[in-house]
Formats: sequence, C-alpha cells, structure tokens
Amino acid sequence: MKPGVATSAPNVAFKFDDDATLLAPLQVGDTFAANRVFMAPLTRSRAQADGTPSYLAAQYYAQRASAGLIITEATAVSKDANGAYVNTPGIYTDRHQQKWADIASAVHREGGRMFMQLWHVGRMGHPDISGVHPVAPSAIAANMTAHTPTGRKPLVVPRALETEEIPGIVADFRAAARRAVDAGMDGVEIHGANGYLLHEFQSDVVNQRTDAYGGSPENRARLTAEVVEAVVDEIGAGRVGLRISPGNGVGDVQENDPVATYEALLDRIAPLGIAYLHVLIDPTLTTFGAIRALWPGVFVLNTGRNTGTDFCQLESFAEWGAVSAVAVGRSYLANPDLIDRLVLGAELNEPDAATFYAPGPVGYIDYPTLAELEARESA
Ligand SMILES: Cc1cc2nc3c(=O)[nH]c(=O)nc-3n(C[C@H](O)[C@H](O)[C@H](O)COP(=O)(O)O)c2cc1C
Repeated sequence: MKPGVATSAPNVAFKFDDDATLLAPLQVGDTFAANRVFMAPLTRSRAQADGTPSYLAAQYYAQRASAGLIITEATAVSKDANGAYVNTPGIYTDRHQQKWADIASAVHREGGRMFMQLWHVGRMGHPDISGVHPVAPSAIAANMTAHTPTGRKPLVVPRALETEEIPGIVADFRAAARRAVDAGMDGVEIHGANGYLLHEFQSDVVNQRTDAYGGSPENRARLTAEVVEAVVDEIGAGRVGLRISPGNGVGDVQENDPVATYEALLDRIAPLGIAYLHVLIDPTLTTFGAIRALWPGVFVLNTGRNTGTDFCQLESFAEWGAVSAVAVGRSYLANPDLIDRLVLGAELNEPDAATFYAPGPVGYIDYPTLAELEARESA
C-alpha cells in the first residue's frame, strides 16, 4: 500500500441541514472559502514526464471548484524533491508554472479557491523515478517499495542530509511558494505529513541526527518551522497552510511522543498566524484533543486513511467548534459535485481505487455529476 493512502473508501450518504456549519463560509487567512468542506490533496499520477501537470488537470480541478478550498495534489519543490510516484507534478520550472496558472484560472473562473500542496518526498523517493539519490534526516531506509517505471522495487538507503544542505531545502520551498502564487494560487500548503521529508525530521525514530535538526522536539521541529517561516516571509502568512499527521505515521516514521513533538512545532509557528493547520488524524484518539488544544487558528481535520468519511460526525465536530473545516479526499475524487449531493442528501459515486493513479481520463475527469446521471437516465 502506498503511504498515506487508503485503498477504498466507504461513502456515507448524508444530508446537510440548510444551516449546517460545514456549509457556512469561512475566512481562511487571505482566502474566503464559500463552505468548510475542503478537497484534500490527492496525488493522481497523471502529470507529464517533466513534471508539468496533465492537460486534463485544469478540467479535473475546475469540476471540483465548489469545494470551499481545493488543496492540490502534492507538488515537488525541486527535481530532487520528486520521486515517490511516477508522473507527479512539480513547481520549479517556468513550464510547470505556466500550466499551474491555467489550472488556477480554470478554478477561479468557476468560483473556486485553491492552495497548492508543496512537498519534498525525502527517503520515499526512488532513483528510478527521480533520477537522483533520495535524501533524509538519517541514512535509514523505509521498509517499503515504490512503483517505478519498471515495476515495484524496494526503497533504497537514503543519504543523510549534511547540515549545510538544509538551507537549500528551505530555499526550494520558498521559491516554489513564490512560483505558486505567481501562477495565481490562493496559497500553498506545506506537506509536513505522511512520512515525507518534513515528517521524517519530526520523527524520533527515523531522525537520528546529532546536529541542531535532531534530538529534542524543538530540534526535530526546526526544519518544518524554518520552511514555514521562509514561506510566510515570501508570500505572507495569510497564504500559508501546513499539513501534519501527528501520531499517524507511515511505517517507521513515528513519534514516540506525538504531543510533545508537535507542541514544539506548533508553539513556534502559532505566532506567525498562518491561514490554517491541516491535521490528518483519527479524531477518536486522545492525541486529537491534545493537538487541537495547541492550535489557536483555523483547524482543518482530515479523518484519516481507511475509515472513510462520516459527514454526520464531521458536522457535529464543526458545530461544537472542534474543527473549523474538514478536508475530504476520496469523496471529492469520485464526486465533483460533492457539495450539491450533500445538500440534497443524494447517493455518492464510489471511488475506484484501480484508477487512482492510472494514466488518462478514466477515473479522473469522468465521474458523473448528479445532473449528468439524470440526463443519462432520461436519454
Ligand atoms: C489517491 C490518493 C492520493 C493521495 N495523495 C495525497 C497527497 O498528494 N498528499 C497528501 O497529503 N495526502 C494524500 N493522500 C491522502 C489524502 O489526502 C487523505 O488524507 C486520505 O485519502 C484520507 O481521507 P479520505 O478518507 O477523505 O479519502 C492521498 C490519498 C489518496 C486516496
């Protein structure tokens, strides 16, 4: 199974009341979101070989513009940052930027709002995909395989980053954020979750450094915090979100004490006043309450990998004020008109895991809206 990725999602049909909290608008930093059901970042492996987004991506995202906020698929901040999956996009060349500008325009034309998720895959990268040897906090391989162009292969032992190389990683995030907003994105989400580079630094299991980036929670938080600070400096706090998955690691990317670990990070970045914190966590865990209590700003919840989305539960959380908004992945993947369906209480299309990462339009831009289904039935 791919990290951070569920294989199937039960879709729970649910009807929002007219006054549902999740249907109410929300100011998210500089961005006005028309509702609080955001589209979670979803890698779709349909980008061109050079990391330029697919020709179909503008249509795909525009179809989903009724989401309060679209968070794009994870997008590499540099060539070296790539390589966890084939055909994933980047935002480090003019050509990438130009295509992302077309996508942002298409979403804005439909009234949508969009943040780009920025990632560095760290030790999850495979040289057969990226063409470079992966880097990580420490030279510890993930006990996992990658889907390379020539089949499944084990991940390799990464090279531990030298301390002197770390400012270059921070600079790559900064430059990518600049390109993203220059392309017309409303903001960026820094990917600090799911076992990729920033999460690897947070983990006391796979980060065994002895410099200022390893050891104490404050040290392990340093790289993520420096990235957030640099990106805030570049594009403004109101256009920056951060995704984390505390206590919800992938493989050995875990924290023995997630609350202490993330307290160090959140204490440091909370005063910056970023647009939102996006947390991938099972909300029935006590860690959820502890992390929630640490964040004074907009708090976006994604309920995790295999449980599917329980909209009734999420609406209750929003009504209680436990969450400001929710991020939903597979239900948006399969239902471009998810909001309409939730308003009507209509049945949801089932996501087809077989086409999550398959090339081409099938399972990408061909999930029908309710209106299309009705037109088919009456034809
Ligand atoms: C096909 C697929 C691709 C994903 N790609 C990303 C990604 O690029 N970045 C990320 O942070 N999470 C990614 N995830 C995780 C989702 O954002 C989300 O956390 C997960 O699907 C659980 O939410 P859901 O039950 O609403 O689908 C992906 C999940 C799936 C199913």
